[in-house]
Amino acid sequence: MKEEDGTMTRRDFVKAAAGAAAVAAVAGTGSIMIWDRTTQPEGPVEAWNAATGIDRILLAATMAPSSHNTQPWRFRADPEGIDVLADMDRTMGKADPRLRELHVSLGCALENAVIAAASAGTPVVADQVSGTPSGRLTRLRFAAQGSGADANADLADAIPLRRTNRGPFDEARTVAPSELTALDSLASENVRVVWLTDPVARARFADLSMTATEAHIADAEIQRDSHRWYRMSRPDAEKYRDGITVSGANLPGAIGLIMGLFPPSPDSFDAGWAKATRDTHCGTAPAFGMLVVENAGDKSAWVEAGRTYERIQLAGAMRGISTHPISQALAIRDREVVAGSPEVYSAGLTELGGAGEVVLAFRIGYPTREQPPSMRRAPVVVQA
Ligand SMILES: Cc1cc2nc3c(=O)[nH]c(=O)nc-3n(C[C@H](O)[C@H](O)[C@H](O)COP(=O)(O)O)c2cc1C
Repeated sequence: MKEEDGTMTRRDFVKAAAGAAAVAAVAGTGSIMIWDRTTQPEGPVEAWNAATGIDRILLAATMAPSSHNTQPWRFRADPEGIDVLADMDRTMGKADPRLRELHVSLGCALENAVIAAASAGTPVVADQVSGTPSGRLTRLRFAAQGSGADANADLADAIPLRRTNRGPFDEARTVAPSELTALDSLASENVRVVWLTDPVARARFADLSMTATEAHIADAEIQRDSHRWYRMSRPDAEKYRDGITVSGANLPGAIGLIMGLFPPSPDSFDAGWAKATRDTHCGTAPAFGMLVVENAGDKSAWVEAGRTYERIQLAGAMRGISTHPISQALAIRDREVVAGSPEVYSAGLTELGGAGEVVLAFRIGYPTREQPPSMRRAPVVVQA
C-alpha cells in the first residue's frame, strides 16, 4: 500500500478498502494480525504499528472495549466508506436485555475507527444510520480531502495501549479536578458526565454495585447468558479469542498463576468477582464516573455514550489514568425496566446521576498493577 510522508491519499484508501473486502470475501475475515501474548511474540502495539490503511481502521475498531469482550461487531467496506454492523449472535441475552451494552460497545468501536482514520490523514464522517441493531448501525463516509482532521486524532496513539484495568487503583492518589474536567470536555453533545468524588456518593455507588452483584449471581438466566462468554481455560481463550478470561481479572501473581493452571468453575470465578467488586474495584476507587443521556432508551444516545467513554478512556490512558466499567447496578436496573418495575436500582442511579438515564458507570484512578492485553478475533468483514 502506498504511503507518502505517512499520509495516505483517499484513492489509496479506496483501493485498500476494496482489497480488504476482496480478501475477506475469500477468507471470511480480514487479514489483520491479532495477538495473544502467550502464543505470539507481537502484542497490540506491534500489530498496531504494522497495520496501515483500511486494516488499521478495522484493527482500531476491533481493539475497542466491549462488554464481556463479546466484540459484537462486523464491518462492510466499499469505495465510499465502511459500515459498522451489530453482530446479533454476539449479544449477552438476559445479561443485557435492552441491548444497552451492545450499543455502547459499538460506539466504542466506532470511535476508535474514526480516530484511527483521522490520525491517518483521511478523516471519516460518521453518519448514524439507525439505532436498531439488526442492520447497519453506522456508515463511516470517507471525507473529502482537506475537510480538516478530527480534533481527537492524537488519541490514536493510545488505541493499542488502552486496557480495562481490574487491579487495585492507588487509593492515595485522586484524579485532579482539572484532569476530570479535561476528560469530560471530550463528551458528545448529548452525553453528560457525572463524577462521583465525594465519599458519600462513592459509598452509595459501591453499595448499589455490591448488592447488584449479588442479584446478578442469584439470577439463573442472567448467569446462564453471562457464562456463555466465560473462557476460563487457556485452550478456550485461545480458541474463541473473546470473552472473560482469568488473566483479564488481573489477580496478584501467585493467585493468577494458580488459577491459570487450574481453571476455576464459572461459579467460583464469580465468588472472586464479588469479592473483587467490594475490595478492589469499589474499595480502591478514588472516584467513579457516570455517562448520562437525556432520554431513556435512546439507542443513538447509547452509541454516543460509547464514543464518549472511548475518548475518555484513551485520553486517560495517555495521562496514566485507568478507567474500568462497573455495570452490575445498570444491568439489574435494566432487568427492573424490562420487568416494568423500575424500583431500587433505577432510583439509586437517578439519585446519583440526576435527570436522564445512566448508560455507563466506571471507576477512574491510577492503576498499581499492569493489565495484560485481552484477546481479539480478527475483524469480520462481510460482503456488500
Ligand atoms: C458497555 C461495557 C460494559 C462493561 N462492563 C464491565 C463490567 O461491568 N466489569 C468489567 O470488569 N468490565 C466491563 N467492561 C470492560 C470489558 O469487559 C472489556 O472492555 C473487555 O473485556 C476487553 O478488555 P479491554 O478493554 O482491556 O480490551 C465493559 C465494557 C463495555 C464497553
